[in-house]
Amino acid sequence: MHPILSIAVKAARRAGGIITRASQDIGSLTVRAKQFNDYVSEVDHAAEQTIIQTIHEAYPDHAILAEETGASGTDAENLWIIDPLDGTTNFLHGFPQYCISIALQQRGQITQAVVYDPNRNDLFTATKGRGAFLNDRRIRVSSRSKLQESLIGTGLPFRDFTHIDAYLAMFRDMMQKTSGLRRPGSAALDLAYVATGWFDGFFEIGLSKWDIAAGSLLITEAGGLVGDFQGNETWLETGNIVGGNPKVFGQMLQVLAPHLTEALKSS
Ligand code: IPD
Ligand code: CA
Ligand code: CA
Repeated sequence: MHPILSIAVKAARRAGGIITRASQDIGSLTVRAKQFNDYVSEVDHAAEQTIIQTIHEAYPDHAILAEETGASGTDAENLWIIDPLDGTTNFLHGFPQYCISIALQQRGQITQAVVYDPNRNDLFTATKGRGAFLNDRRIRVSSRSKLQESLIGTGLPFRDFTHIDAYLAMFRDMMQKTSGLRRPGSAALDLAYVATGWFDGFFEIGLSKWDIAAGSLLITEAGGLVGDFQGNETWLETGNIVGGNPKVFGQMLQVLAPHLTEALKSS
């Protein structure tokens, strides 16, 4: 394993320990609403602190972009993008679908990725140019070629309803042109599931960098494609993301195309 990746794995496993211990007594947690339908608990903060500390022990100068504490550091070449707990709503309900997502962006390119599911002990990792892995096993996107036979993951709007009409039109169309849609509730894990072939594709509107930075490298290193709703490169900035195996990816873009408003097109 690449030495930088092993630091990210150590950080993710430490955060996983904190989250798992806390999951045994969710009732005692202090929960705060950051905004409408957007909750954060002390567990998110504790996990994030542990991750940042572990990274800084090894790389004191690297810059950080983390969901709960924001941006820090001045290193323009090395930026860690961290979601300490992706799927907080699930976690707070005891619904066992959440993960830790850690990515390293170097000179603008994502080069290392870890997505760790502490419930299943699934560790998804990738290093740019070296493939993607689930635990010690190399993973590939699925080989399914027909959208009609595909299982597609998505995320429903729940906090910002700006694009609800466009999204529902996409959802309605996709529902009839696939074998099934799923909304598990952790975007980073959804992307990891595309990388491992459990999903054939995924789409969601308006995600944040920390939701998608790691998962997107998993997909491309597993032989899949990632783009915005028109297949272009704005996905990390806009958070409008489609991922899939190369055959299903193109068919998903065709289904989405008629429903794109100006705001959802690549600018
Ligand atoms: C959320 C999850 C969810 C997605 C949301 C994200 P959080 O992250 O990834 O699947 O639909 O848009 O905000 O808030 O639980 O870290
Ligand atoms: Ca998230
Ligand atoms: Ca989070």
